[in-house]
Amino acid sequence: MTHKPIRKAVFPVAGLGTRFLPATKSMPKEMLPINDRPLIQHVVEEARKAGIEEFIFVTGRQKEMLEEHFDFQPELEQTLESRGKNDMVAKVRASEMKAGQLFLTRQPKPLGLGHAIWCAKKLIGDEPFAILLPDDLVLHDQGCLSQMVDTYNEKGGNVIAVKEVPRADTSKYGIVDIGAVEGNITEVKGLVEKPSPEDAPSTLSVVGRYILQPDVLDHLAAFETGAGNEIQLTDSMAKMIGDRAFHGLKFAGQHYDCGSRLGFIEANIAYGLADTEIGDNVRDILKNYS
Ligand code: UTP
Repeated sequence: MTHKPIRKAVFPVAGLGTRFLPATKSMPKEMLPINDRPLIQHVVEEARKAGIEEFIFVTGRQKEMLEEHFDFQPELEQTLESRGKNDMVAKVRASEMKAGQLFLTRQPKPLGLGHAIWCAKKLIGDEPFAILLPDDLVLHDQGCLSQMVDTYNEKGGNVIAVKEVPRADTSKYGIVDIGAVEGNITEVKGLVEKPSPEDAPSTLSVVGRYILQPDVLDHLAAFETGAGNEIQLTDSMAKMIGDRAFHGLKFAGQHYDCGSRLGFIEANIAYGLADTEIGDNVRDILKNYS
């Protein structure tokens, strides 16, 4: 059976990024760099690898820098060319979004991730779509979303990225109630946002990558608040369970929670080590700290 292709991806970038204050006072969290590119570029590149054609940003106040980053920068390119810095020209060009690929909508108030996705309703339309949270990076050649698209092509319905976490940490994440398990694919029987360790149905947590059917937008339209008094995506996803296939993929690759300061520092080390130009030097520097 063939399933509708995943052509669109939503990037919610309207959050306040309070954990990184004061860095995020006037700078969007999603523009903080991991190695040589901002978080948002890492996830846009991952989406491109997965075949995404339309990139939908849900932005908010003081987030203009995000759209600027993907623009054509003629003066910069000319200056680099005149100085013979062709490798840098190539890097700058690779960060440009082609005409007709980038779409923007705004979330007037950061009322929660679920609300941010609802704000993109018109741009998503009536087709299955992907969501990528720029906070979550997965270091892997194929990319996390591309692995999820493979699972979606096999199973259809909804697919979310999942990983095991320590039981003590379940109250930080959306947690899966696990059904039948087939290799690295798990049937999702239920979803709970930020349960306490005693109430958590498992220790399998949701990572910020989703392939969802557009029905989720109808559930989000109820604007019900959940954990933290925010409109949670997890609660609306939970309402779709039973309607059609719903699976979690234990993806390959190392995941970094770049929304936390420690995860952000670790990701910078890991991406630095994996870089062909500076990896060996990073390894040498780290010896000074062991
Ligand atoms: P987070 O849960 O990390 O929230 O959002 P945050 O506001 O960015 O950061 P902290 O917790 O205050 O430090 C995950 C992703 O969802 C977006 C964020 O921009 C981030 O990319 N988001 C979150 C929205 O777009 N709108 C919201 O209302 C909440």
